[in-house]
Amino acid sequence: MSELNPSGRKGRFISVEGVDGAGKSTQLAWLADWLTTQGIHFISTREPGGTPLGEKLRALLLSEPMHLETEALLMFAGRREHLAQVIEPALQRGDWVLCDRFTDATFAYQGGGRGLPLEKFAALEQWVQGRDEGVLQPDLTLLFDVPPEVSAARMANGRVLDRFEQEAADFHTRVRNAYLQRAAADPARIKVIDANRTVEAIQHELAAQLPQWLGSVTQINRASR
Ligand code: TMP
Repeated sequence: MSELNPSGRKGRFISVEGVDGAGKSTQLAWLADWLTTQGIHFISTREPGGTPLGEKLRALLLSEPMHLETEALLMFAGRREHLAQVIEPALQRGDWVLCDRFTDATFAYQGGGRGLPLEKFAALEQWVQGRDEGVLQPDLTLLFDVPPEVSAARMANGRVLDRFEQEAADFHTRVRNAYLQRAAADPARIKVIDANRTVEAIQHELAAQLPQWLGSVTQINRASR
């Protein structure tokens, strides 16, 4: 659990991560249905994006060539706005937050993929997510993991690729490895899901594990309503 999740904060913060082509969108839709079935009030949001300003930054980030450090800083700038306008108000209301990517993506893409030093992100994370109680992190992060050849095949489906998807195969391999390293360093928060399986097999695992990973959803739900 995050350091900001003591008494009083009833909403939970779930982030979903993975390399491009990991099948995240399908699983996000299923997760939204699952939360609804549990009777949980939640918002769905995404990064980059999630606010009017963040969506403008997203459009730039996905299309406009820029310095690598500009890219990293814009990710954190959008995140600051997202926290202030959307994520923290939702958690304070007691709503849950289902977020398509968060700071782990910056460590993986700008750190692993682009090769920027991780210490810079730790400092930015402290600045942007630091609160009196500690650094605000997701309570649970689901990392959908697929080998590079699988994600490459899923991306090669004819649609127009964005600036990250257009990167070479070794970029995506470095992103994947950085995600896996982060998961290994924080196994209590980041759960690696083998996404190189059928959608049904993945969802079967999620349905079985989520209550435990979230500390018994039913109890939380009852207590928070
Ligand atoms: P999406 O396609 O999953 O919505 O994400 C858009 C792209 O943005 C994806 O290729 C990953 C990238 N990204 C970063 O490079 N750094 C970040 O911090 C975030 C949140 C996303």
